Amino acid sequence: MDKLLNKIIAGDCIEILNGVKKPFADLIFADPPFNIGYKYDKYKDSRKKEHYIDWTRQWMEACCNVLKPSGSFYIAIGDDYAAQVKMIAEDELKLFCRNWIIWHYTFGQQTKNKFARSHTHIFYFVKDKKNFTFNDFAVRAPSDRQLIYKDKRANSVGKMPDDVWSCYSRVCGTFAERQGWHPCQMPELLLARIIASSSNPSDCVLDPFIGSGTTAAVAVKYGRSYCGIDVSESYVKNADKRIAQIKSQISNLKSQIFSPIELEEIKRLFVETGLSIARLVKNAKLLEIFTSQFSLRMDNNKKYDPVQMASVIKELTGWDKRS
Ligand SMILES: C[S@@+](CC[C@H](N)C(=O)[O-])C[C@H]1O[C@@H](n2cnc3c(N)ncnc32)[C@H](O)[C@@H]1O
Repeated sequence: MDKLLNKIIAGDCIEILNGVKKPFADLIFADPPFNIGYKYDKYKDSRKKEHYIDWTRQWMEACCNVLKPSGSFYIAIGDDYAAQVKMIAEDELKLFCRNWIIWHYTFGQQTKNKFARSHTHIFYFVKDKKNFTFNDFAVRAPSDRQLIYKDKRANSVGKMPDDVWSCYSRVCGTFAERQGWHPCQMPELLLARIIASSSNPSDCVLDPFIGSGTTAAVAVKYGRSYCGIDVSESYVKNADKRIAQIKSQISNLKSQIFSPIELEEIKRLFVETGLSIARLVKNAKLLEIFTSQFSLRMDNNKKYDPVQMASVIKELTGWDKRS
């Protein structure tokens, strides 16, 4: 097991995971190829339907065997095979589905004669429906009652997000986050919501299809252990570089007012709150709500100052340079 921990490994995830004797993963995030003809460097993404379903069954089973009894298993999948994934999980692997999430994204691919596809399914399964990690404080966000209507009945700890996630855009070619060497990369903020809610510090997060390394990148930022696997040696080499860069950025940031995880959380809360930067930094009441929600998310008894918060938000969003 130690040879998998905090490593990104080149190889077939089914073979590698079937060779592990003891469950070690607290959380698994799997984003397999969707069998829709994407161009990966090694894997051919156009298999016969029966072959693809059988392969799906095999990797899901291999993942289940290394998932701890209290573990959570998230699977991203397209329309074509969502039904099969849910049936394999529930009927064969006896997993319990806690949420069927729709990730609705902007910047989807354009079409000419049908509506453009703009969503992905994300299943959230657990092994034991009574014993799992779910940190609600880490994902609650200010409600419209708080932000817009100033309604005194609003819950001061914010509201739980819906199961349709519309706040995370696809990672397009022009985004700073984009790793140009991989064709389909998940947004870090989406992974951050999953990792923050369904794991605790130092837990192990496994991604059997690590691709550009997103899951491991976010796990490192949030102080979790990780294990990533990809069949492409070249993706693994590049993902390793991405992780090394993040680790060095984190050690360079150590002396700043906000820690690396705090900076990530400020970015995520800003996007999830949906406020414009101009409104947020100019409105003392909104800033206060934002800062208090942030403090709940961090769960660390630290006092945060709204004025300092405004200046870090401006810096993180580049607003200072634009205005
Ligand atoms: C949809 S991509 C994952 C993207 C990833 N979530 C990210 O954010 O970059 C699927 C990945 O699965 C890899 N893959 C395909 N078959 C595999 C297998 N049998 N074992 C491990 N990885 C595999 C592909 O090389 C590809 O990088």
